[in-house]
Amino acid sequence: MSIHIEAEKGEIAETVLLPGDPLRAKWIADHFLENPKQYNNIRGMLGFTGTYNGKKVSVQGTGMGIPSTLIYCHELINEYGVKNLIRVGSAGSYMKKVKINDIVVAMAASSTSGINAARFPGANFAPTANFQLFTKAVNFAAREKINIHAGNILTSDAFYEDDAEDYKKWAKFGILCVEMETAGLYTVAAQYGVSALSLLTVSDSMVTGESLSSEEREKAFSEMIKIALNIL
Ligand code: ADE
Repeated sequence: MSIHIEAEKGEIAETVLLPGDPLRAKWIADHFLENPKQYNNIRGMLGFTGTYNGKKVSVQGTGMGIPSTLIYCHELINEYGVKNLIRVGSAGSYMKKVKINDIVVAMAASSTSGINAARFPGANFAPTANFQLFTKAVNFAAREKINIHAGNILTSDAFYEDDAEDYKKWAKFGILCVEMETAGLYTVAAQYGVSALSLLTVSDSMVTGESLSSEEREKAFSEMIKIALNIL
């Protein structure tokens, strides 16, 4: 048992899917895993372990933002020996070509977060996806004819930005979308020598102002989970 996770050693798989929303973790376990068993309910941050095509896999809610996500990633890696961390989250589009329900595979994560500023004074650390997981995800999507965008994203500390036009500068530099966790995930994975990848479903758009209800996200979300589970 760690501070925020009440699983016994061995109850969590080496590969963990990480949705922000703990109820999404339950939904993934119920819809995709065989024999899912709940191992965590501390703070309602649900975690489950089951199998997919015979392989042991876990799914753990992380909450929103880098600070919450880092708590779970740190404990999963250091207390439970997790080796592959795959975020399955949502994002807001920064580009016209990145449409609602599209899937983004985050090659790298730029950030407005202060998480690495104190660690690397006067320098910038570039948080990147694990190459093998990234390549497997892109290749699986191509084989299954699942349309994806792959590239640089923005991890922000703020969901509500002061200036609604801010996204345009990031878009000019090729940033596909914004979310709130990936730069932290890629950094902690690098720190401890484990593998990480972020898959994101576009749930809203800064360009068009559209947004989806959580029920409407289900189909695209399912395709994203399919990618995550098939690159194990
Ligand atoms: N996650 C989903 N949509 C988002 C947005 N617009 N900003 C930050 N994180 C998000």
